[in-house]
Amino acid sequence: MPEQRTVLIDSHCHLDLSQFDADRELVLVRAHEAAVSYLVNPGIDLDHCRRALALAEQYDEVFVAVGIHPNSAHDVGSQELADLRALAVHPKVVAIGEIGLDYHWHDVAPDRQRRAFMAQLELAADLGLPVIIHHRDANKDIAEILRVWAATVAERSPLAQRPFKGVLHAFSAGLDLAQEAYDWGFVIGLGGPVTFRSARELHALAPLLRIDRLLLETDAPYLTPHPYRGQRNEPAYVRLVCEQIAQLRGMDSADVAALTTATATSFFQLEDRFGAHPATRHTPIHA
Ligand code: NI
Repeated sequence: MPEQRTVLIDSHCHLDLSQFDADRELVLVRAHEAAVSYLVNPGIDLDHCRRALALAEQYDEVFVAVGIHPNSAHDVGSQELADLRALAVHPKVVAIGEIGLDYHWHDVAPDRQRRAFMAQLELAADLGLPVIIHHRDANKDIAEILRVWAATVAERSPLAQRPFKGVLHAFSAGLDLAQEAYDWGFVIGLGGPVTFRSARELHALAPLLRIDRLLLETDAPYLTPHPYRGQRNEPAYVRLVCEQIAQLRGMDSADVAALTTATATSFFQLEDRFGAHPATRHTPIHA
């Protein structure tokens, strides 16, 4: 019998991408063996949202966020928003994402990105779903938009009733933005980069973040943790992220696993969905 390990949730991975076409089933088996009980797969455009939902229908452990990524947000108009809204009613949709701003790549003009981002934030507020935020080289605009959104949500959206409003995924900003994000009801997502040897700023930041507001993630197939950097990432490696954060904080990794799994369960309201708490989930995934 395998050693009993505290379960983990990979709060952000892209299993629907073609990098997993050849061996997706094996990737899920390895995740299961690493005691990764649930995965959340955010879509990056409508087509990938549909693929992610097909996976969620096939595999109990896969949940989905629907959204249009800033690098795909060329044309987010009323039709695209209506399509997203229709997809979001699926029982395995747990968030709107990933959405946000990315000024690193220049595929989509910033004003288009901002319009698509704000429209999808409105959709999330309407539907009462939390948001998964991608931010890259756009901290100032992200903060300005989310500050206003969080304040209006608090007044008028069913989202106000939920414990958490959103996650800043693959967090790459400073403690100031993290602390402001806590005030908005947000949590912080950390993944592979915290394991990189060169990531001194993240190493310094990780112990200062609130452990009760932390989600673990892989962003697979991207951002592969040390010592697999350069290879394809996969959800089983979320355990390496957990171990690194435990080491940086001087904690037991089982405690980091338990706390982050509890936060992710509450964030995505996984318990309410199928009645199975991740920590007690024991049904075989691939019967
Ligand atoms: Ni991602």
